[in-house]
Amino acid sequence: MTYVVNDKCIRCKYMDCVEVCPVDCFYEGENMLVIHPDECIDCGVCEPECPAEAIKPDTVPGLEKWITLNAEYAKQWPNITIKRDAPADAKEWDGVEGKEQYFSDKPGEGD
Ligand code: SF4
Ligand code: F3S
Repeated sequence: MTYVVNDKCIRCKYMDCVEVCPVDCFYEGENMLVIHPDECIDCGVCEPECPAEAIKPDTVPGLEKWITLNAEYAKQWPNITIKRDAPADAKEWDGVEGKEQYFSDKPGEGD
């Protein structure tokens, strides 16, 4: 089992999650983060910290696409362990449906 970041993170990218993860297993893309499935210890601490409710255990139905995407991009994007400011328009994107279309495969800055 692992925890997974889904499309609710896209363009919100609050980064509260990185501060609480005990094993620093978040990786940063241009407009969302992902969790490395082999590093996550399933502690669940990050789930309630995300204001956008973008983090779920992989046992939740319907997450297949995001399980694959987290595993793929955690290998490509830089590690992030220190929270920076969220995008200026993060709140405007919070809860918007269909954000998958805005997914960017470009890497973020990392720490
Ligand atoms: Fe990190 Fe725990 Fe969240 Fe996994 S469940 S990403 S180990 S805080
Ligand atoms: Fe994304 Fe939530 Fe973390 S919006 S960056 S998963 S706090």
